[in-house]
Amino acid sequence: MARNVVISGGGTGIGLAAAQVFAAEGDRVLLLGRRAGVLEKAGVPGALTYAADLGDVDAVRGVVGFVERELGTVDVLIHGAGGNGQLEPGVTSGDALAAVAHHWTVNFRLNLLTAALLTEGVKDRLASPGGRVLFVSSIAAYRGSGSGAYGAAKAGLHPYAHDLARELGPRGITVNVVAPGYVEDTEFFGAAIDPARRERLVGDTVTGRAGTPGDVAATLHWLASVGAGHVTSQVVQVNGGAERGH
Ligand SMILES: NC(=O)c1ccc[n+]([C@@H]2O[C@H](COP(=O)([O-])OP(=O)(O)OC[C@H]3O[C@@H](n4cnc5c(N)ncnc54)[C@H](OP(=O)(O)O)[C@@H]3O)[C@@H](O)[C@H]2O)c1
Repeated sequence: MARNVVISGGGTGIGLAAAQVFAAEGDRVLLLGRRAGVLEKAGVPGALTYAADLGDVDAVRGVVGFVERELGTVDVLIHGAGGNGQLEPGVTSGDALAAVAHHWTVNFRLNLLTAALLTEGVKDRLASPGGRVLFVSSIAAYRGSGSGAYGAAKAGLHPYAHDLARELGPRGITVNVVAPGYVEDTEFFGAAIDPARRERLVGDTVTGRAGTPGDVAATLHWLASVGAGHVTSQVVQVNGGAERGH
């Protein structure tokens, strides 16, 4: 039976790859992101789109209303929205501490607040039983990423997922986290990644390659399957072994 799948960050990268996998199965997909044009051009067959900044309470109220009207029930909720803040506007003042506060606030907002607001907004609409909530964390939650704030924000998703899994388990809903390593073909690193950094990140893997959005989408799809119904409150790493260190 076709499911209703809501995907934040669904217009690009990992979220888009997930949308394509679910849509290919005949599921009805709703793509969320801030840029309406990107969502509309995503080219996911039959997808609904709604542009909203998910770090904004009123904007999330708009999403919740749209979900109520257009979908009714949410079978799968995937939180792909996020980033390390490098693509966001910087601070205008030259004050160093103000820049630190800005960087940490931006990362908290992009990676945690977006996920918490959307989850809490549609929680009552999750299919019961059978609903799935999936967060996208990062290897940075385990190893850091060099900026402190990004990994800290991603790590914050893990206890939230555990609390939600406990809360929603009695309703037959699972809650899990997928934590990718370095993934190419996304907008995460902006126009291009520094070649030396890319080489180091690929060198950390035992597979000798970068991750693809499809790698992560396949794991999300499995966690959303009926067969994964007893997998909950877990963090699944998709990183070619990079978290272990070599
Ligand atoms: N690429 C990697 O190597 C990597 C590794 C580990 C984890 N991740 C995580 O994977 C997730 C997907 O990222 P990606 O790699 O696919 O990069 P991406 O292409 O930059 O995707 C991030 C998406 O999030 C959306 N977004 C950001 N802030 C938002 C907000 N406030 N409200 C609504 N949508 C928002 C963006 O669209 P708009 O800008 O239009 O809003 C964009 O579509 C992120 O959580 C990222 O942290 C990525």
